Amino acid sequence: MLRLEGLSFAYPAQAPLFARLNAHVGPGQVLAVVGRNGAGKSTLLRLLNGLLRPDAGQIRIRGRSTSGLKVHEIARDVGTLFQTPEQQLFATRVYEEVAFGPRQLGLANAEVEDRVDLALRRTFLHHQAQRHPLDLSMAERRFTALASILAMHPAVLLLDEPQRGLDRLWTERLEAIIAGERKAGKAIVLICHDMDFVDRNAQMVLALGTGEASAWSTETFFGDLELLRRARVDTPSRLLLSRLEY
Ligand SMILES: Nc1ncnc2c1ncn2[C@@H]1O[C@H](COP(=O)(O)OP(=O)(O)OP(=O)(O)O)[C@@H](O)[C@H]1O
Ligand SMILES: [Mg+2]
Repeated sequence: MLRLEGLSFAYPAQAPLFARLNAHVGPGQVLAVVGRNGAGKSTLLRLLNGLLRPDAGQIRIRGRSTSGLKVHEIARDVGTLFQTPEQQLFATRVYEEVAFGPRQLGLANAEVEDRVDLALRRTFLHHQAQRHPLDLSMAERRFTALASILAMHPAVLLLDEPQRGLDRLWTERLEAIIAGERKAGKAIVLICHDMDFVDRNAQMVLALGTGEASAWSTETFFGDLELLRRARVDTPSRLLLSRLEY
């Protein structure tokens, strides 16, 4: 579904952020991208959605290289929830925010309405459709951005710290949406500093800033204390507890 093939990138006049990265995210799989602040996680997301271009290597979506595609062409397949979703909201009504993308696709009005309706229900925002996005709570604003992505039916979802600052109820709602997208066969890339969240939702981990160029299964990654130390992440509490039981 989503393939990173030998991906290398450096900002101008800076040391390389990563070299020859490889990963494959199949349908229904979640790849967590972890690592210290400044390791290049958000940069990797911008390579995947075409806002930046790699110095070497390529990205394939459903077998097709994105190197010749424009950002808006990539956006048909790839939906991005940015680290600060407030920056991606621009409409004066939640409904309009979510309807914008599907309208750009040239869909019939009835189809647009169906998609917006479903996306707002899935994000628990149906009763907020006529509100101004910036009048909503932080969680609702983030879910408005998420709804606008879901309404586009992208094959690949890129989520930059979607769980950050959410309370338990909204976290559960987010996890239900991730599970639903997995079931629908989407490929998901999840940037996350919360290893409990990674443990619950991801099957693979790519640890940036560690010198490792390939993804690991979450099981292998969380079992390797040396790797966790290099990635500067914690052991998930589930594993700490299971070790205490011995
Ligand atoms: N436009 C840019 N030009 C030059 N350097 C940049 C640019 N954007 C980011 N950087 C640098 O590249 C490095 C990686 O940044 P990035 O935002 O990808 O890290 P991150 O892993 O997402 O960090 P965080 O966990 O804090 O979100 C940082 O050192 C950052 O200062
Ligand atoms: Mg970041």
